[in-house]
Formats: sequence, C-alpha cells, structure tokens
Amino acid sequence: MDAKTTIIADAEVTARVEALIERMSLAEKIGQLTQIGGADWVRGPKPEEIIRKGGAGSVLWLNDTQKFNALQKIAVEESPSKIPLLFALDVIHGYRTIFPVPLAMAASWDPVVVEQAQAVAAREARAAGLHWTFGPMLDIARDARWGRIVEGAGEDPCLGAAMAAAQVRGFQGEYLGAPDRVIACAKHFAGYGASDGGRDYDPVYLPEGQLRNVYFPPFEAAVKAGVGTFMSAYMDLNDVPATGNRWLLRDILRDEWGFQGFVVSDAFAVASLVTQGFARDGRDAAGRALRAGVDMDMASSTYLEHLAGLVEDGTLKMAEIDAAVRRILAIKVRLGLFEQPYTDEAKLAQVLAQPEHRQAARRAAQRSMVLLRNEGQLLPLAKNFRHVAVIGPLADSKEATEGSWMVFGHTPAAVTVLDGIRAKLPDAQVEYAPGPEIQRDIPSFFDTMNPNFKAVTQPPDAAEAAFQTAIATARRAEVIVMVLGENANMAGEAASRASLDLPGRQEELLRAVMALGKPVVLVLLNGRPLSINWAAENVPAIIEAWEPGTEGGHAVADILFGDANPGGKLPVAFPRQGSHAPLYYARNLTHSPEGSQMYNPRYWDGLPAPLYPFGFGLSYTTFSITDLKVSAAQVKVGDSVTVTASVTNTGSVAGDEVVQLYIHQRFGSDSRPMRELKGFERLTLNPGESRTVTFELGPEQLKYWSTNAGEWVQDATVIDLWVGSDSLATLHADLVVVR
Ligand code: NOJ
Repeated sequence: MDAKTTIIADAEVTARVEALIERMSLAEKIGQLTQIGGADWVRGPKPEEIIRKGGAGSVLWLNDTQKFNALQKIAVEESPSKIPLLFALDVIHGYRTIFPVPLAMAASWDPVVVEQAQAVAAREARAAGLHWTFGPMLDIARDARWGRIVEGAGEDPCLGAAMAAAQVRGFQGEYLGAPDRVIACAKHFAGYGASDGGRDYDPVYLPEGQLRNVYFPPFEAAVKAGVGTFMSAYMDLNDVPATGNRWLLRDILRDEWGFQGFVVSDAFAVASLVTQGFARDGRDAAGRALRAGVDMDMASSTYLEHLAGLVEDGTLKMAEIDAAVRRILAIKVRLGLFEQPYTDEAKLAQVLAQPEHRQAARRAAQRSMVLLRNEGQLLPLAKNFRHVAVIGPLADSKEATEGSWMVFGHTPAAVTVLDGIRAKLPDAQVEYAPGPEIQRDIPSFFDTMNPNFKAVTQPPDAAEAAFQTAIATARRAEVIVMVLGENANMAGEAASRASLDLPGRQEELLRAVMALGKPVVLVLLNGRPLSINWAAENVPAIIEAWEPGTEGGHAVADILFGDANPGGKLPVAFPRQGSHAPLYYARNLTHSPEGSQMYNPRYWDGLPAPLYPFGFGLSYTTFSITDLKVSAAQVKVGDSVTVTASVTNTGSVAGDEVVQLYIHQRFGSDSRPMRELKGFERLTLNPGESRTVTFELGPEQLKYWSTNAGEWVQDATVIDLWVGSDSLATLHADLVVVR
C-alpha cells in the first residue's frame, strides 16, 4: 500500500492515532513532543542515544539522507514506541536550487510563481528525506532595519496573505501528505516583525487592532490554505512571550481560526521563557508553554526534562499531554510515515538534476526584479558592447547571490552577475574588479556555524588598492555595471542594522565611477530596502535584484540586456534613512495631512516620504490605466461591488504591469489607514494591447477589527478607491456604503 499517494480519511487518522496513544507510556508521549538538534554543535547526548530511548519525535538541523535513514531505523526498530521521526529543516527559498529570497518573491506579486518555487523546494527537500520545512515566514515587517524582513513578504497584509497561501500550497500540495511535498510551518506567530527599533528579538507592543488588521492576516490565510504546523515566536508580545501566550496559541489560532495542526516552539524558546523573565525555572516554563498551546519543544529539552514530573504531581493532566501528542501523530499518519519511514538514497541526485528546477529559478528571479530608475532609457543595454566593466564586491559573490537563509550544509553555487554577463556576451571583453570588500561591523553568531563563511581581513591599504583598481577597470570600459548592496549575512536573523546605507565604501566607489562620465547601471543585491538617496538622483539606471538565487546572475543579465522585461514591484517602501523606520504607506491620516494648510513635514532635517513607495516598479514599456468603474455607486453593508479598470501597454515592447486597488474609508467606528491594498493582478501585455482588470470589493475587504467597538465591523461610510501602478495611484472613484 502506498499511503503517500492517497488522502487518508479523517476517521482513519483518528482511529490510528488513538490506537497508538493507547499503548504509549508517558515517557514515549513526551518524546513525541520533543524535537532534537542533529547538528554536531548541539550539546548533550547524541541523537542516536536519545532516539533509541524514545526521547525524540522529530529532528532538526540535519541534512544528510543516509543519516536520516540511519536515525529512522533506530526510531522504527529500537525505540520503545517504534514511531517514525519527522525530519525538519529550514528550507526557506529552495533546497539545492535556490530561488530568490522571500522578500524578492513577494516583489513578483505573482502567487503562481511563488507556489511553483516552493513546490520545487519541496520536491528537492523531500527527495533528500525531509518531511517538514520551517516556512513560510509570515511576519509583516514595516521596519527595514529589522534583518528578518528578508524572510517575509514585506509590509502589507493583503500581499502578505496572498504570498502566505501560495507558499503553503507550494510546499504542501493539495493535501497533507501529498507526494513530493513537505509539511509547511507558518512562523513566527505573532508580531515578531514589529520589534522595538527593528532590533531582532526585542519586545513587541501591538494593540489588538493592529494585530488583527495587519499582522494576523497572512497567518489566517495560511490556516485557510491548510498549513500543517505553526511556530511560536521568540519575543514578548505585549509583555507575554509568544511561546507562553495562550491568547495567541489557543484563543486565536485554535478557537477562532480552527487550526487543527500542531504548534512547535522556535528554537530554545521554551527554555527562553526563563531567560525572558517570565517563567520561574525550566519546570514552570515547560508547564506554561504546554498549557499555552506549544505542542512540540524545539531543541531546548525542557519538555523532556520536566513534563513527566508535572504530570506525576498533578500540575498537568495526562489529557493535556495526549492532546498535543495526538496532533503530532496525526501529521505523521497523514504523511504516510508509518508506511514509508525511509528515503530512497538513490533518488536525490536525479531529482536535483532536473533542468526544470533551474528554469523555474531563473524565471522567478526575472519576475522578482524591480526596475527603480531608467533615465534616458539606458536600459536595456545593447548586446554589441565590446568592453564591459563589472564592478563591486558582490558582482562575483555566490553567497550574496543566493542570499540569506541557506539550507543547512549547502554550499552556494550561484551563477553570479559576472558569470551571467559573461555568458550573455561571449564575444565581449568583460572585466571585473570587486573594489573594497564589505563586512558587518559586529560579526554574526551564525557566521561561526557556517562552514562557508570567510571573515574579511582586507587591510585598509589593500582596500585602497582595490578601490583604485576598480576605477581603472571602469575607465577602460564602454559601459559599467556596478553590483552593490549587502552580503548574505547582513540580513536575516540577528542581522538588524541602524543605518540603511550601502555598507563600507560602496557609495564612494559608485560616486567615483559615476565621475568617469560613462553609462553606469547599478544592480542591487540585498535583502532589505536600502537608502540609496545619492544613487536615486545620480545613477541613470537602477535594478533591484534582491538576493536572486542560484540562477540570479543569468536573470540579471536577461534583464540588463532586454531578454526579460522587469515587472516586479516593491513589497515594502524604501526609506530615505534608517531612522525613518518604521515607514509604511498604510498610515492613518493626522490633523496635519500632506497637502493641508497645517501640514508640517514631520522632520525638519529630511523628508519622511519614502525614496520609493510601496508597490513601485518601472518597466521597459509604459502602461496607462484608465476607465475606473465601480458596478454601483452605492451599496449596502454586506454587499459587494465589482471594480474594473482598463490597462494598456502604451510602449513598444511586451511587458508586465501589476494593477493595484487601494481603498480608504473616510469615516466610521475607527480611523482607518489613508490607503490599504485590497487587490492586485500582474498581467503581461503586448504593445498596444489592452485588458480589463476586475476586482471584487465586499465585506471581506471592507470589514476591520474596530478598537472602538471591540469587534469586527463594516461601517456605513464613504470609501475612496484608487486603481493604479503603485501606492501613489491617482485614478479615483467613490463608493457609498449604507445600512
Ligand atoms: C530560529 C529561527 O527564528 C527560526 O525561524 C528557525 O526556523 C529556527 N531557528 C530553526 O532553525
């Protein structure tokens, strides 16, 4: 029987889980609630020993098919309960074929391409023997200083929810246990992206209205898409750590949303309840995390050490343990793990070699790139240049191209921008000079765990020599491609920063190269918005390429030379400086709004308006969006209207436009944001071609959590609508909503 290719009926799952629970000891049950680290640096007894005793239900931080099978054999043949292990890893944007980082994927505004990317990631990961990924990361992030902004879909709940659902479908397929897929994990529940000052792990203070209207929608979308697991966040949310937060993990997640899967803590987060000054000791932490709704303890062994004692002295009831075990076993049954605990070691190489994976990665990278500036239509470049200079510390960096959150043990193997340009122009002379190297001022803890990491040791005189060589190289060329931005370790976990400037001497180098008076294109490789104010005024062509993945260099070259037309849009605003964060378009109006007589510019030392707004991105063609129509001028609360607009490619090449619908509610129970995205569609149009775009606007889009009313409301009000190509859209209509 091959259970992996069939949906197992709910009744059968329940019966099988109950039969297992019936014969399990308390110790075996607690083992199922424990996830252990398989990496060499994990302290304590070896995984083999723990598994043999039945002390683990799942293993993370291991990426080795043979070892998976060896550990599984111990679990299935030697452990007391013989229940197979669940192997988990952070497969965030690809397993071997690395796709653009999630922030970049969100810039595609293309849920189909996002779903396809995660399906490829799942296929490769599953072939390696993994069952479960710690993704998607669904934290809304409005503060570009926060390093983990790279892992999510940016600042907006509507875009974030669409990306959440697409990723869950991509990872999991049609149902839990679908062949060649993995179980997804919606993380980090919830509010992690709003840490004070953008400082990673710092406390978060978010009123319920903000949580429900802004931070929860991607998570709820993941539940609706059938996500199998959730991960609780590290930080304190309104003074209660997310991992000990019953309101989040039970009241919202289970009681309101009906989530049926299981919750895993973030790594060491159960033990951290003590560190954070919430739980008295490990015992207290274990009891409170379980009660709050954390089913599985990731890596801290707190459950393993303390849950039995808590049951024995009556603090916890066996029924509470059983409920958590049931949820974990149900996923194992649905996955078909009992029928097929092992992975065919011969299959992986063949799956990884599939050329479609690389093709999908290249296409995803093309679609995620955002054209920020193109003065005088410098781009696309002609292919008949004879002499090109490629300059910058990231131009030939495989690490920066594949970006942050590499799969454990993966060695970056990207086509760099330099490789991509050389492949595109086989007959031209393509010279390369990195210029001075860049590095973090304070090294990352995670660098010490990365076998590929090389610390920069360039002394100042060598950096100066590299600077001069770069200029000399640029001087010899007809056209210069500058590849600047951030290294992979400059965004991600524990990678927040105060400034959003180009690190190191990169801007100085850019200015010096611009001073040569030659055509210059700036390609940015980065995992967060950067305050490229000088470049935005002075460099004629700028491509935001993000961290574009294994095929990134080819995709950049495709865009540079016009084999692909950029159509991505920013999923997050670019502030003019780090101290302007948090900065987001969906702010409420104030008593002195922009344009009013009372307007004051907020800061006297620099305008707070973003350098590039949310939703912004150019193309090699132009579009016009006209004929905004609303199917009725007035509707009743609870009814829907259809909003249509016509979009035309008015330029001379085929291209993509992302048509965006924004609303504003003029008055009501609460003040509402001056603009909120409520729909979008990316479409491809040939020159001269027109299409009508249609959006539904009804109670789903118009309701919100009212702080004033303490519940979900839809007001009788007047709604402003705008349809356009970014969050500054001007094409406007009104809609009256009556009772
Ligand atoms: C900590 C991170 O916060 C989380 O995102 C990740 O999934 C776990 N470590 C496991 O690696």
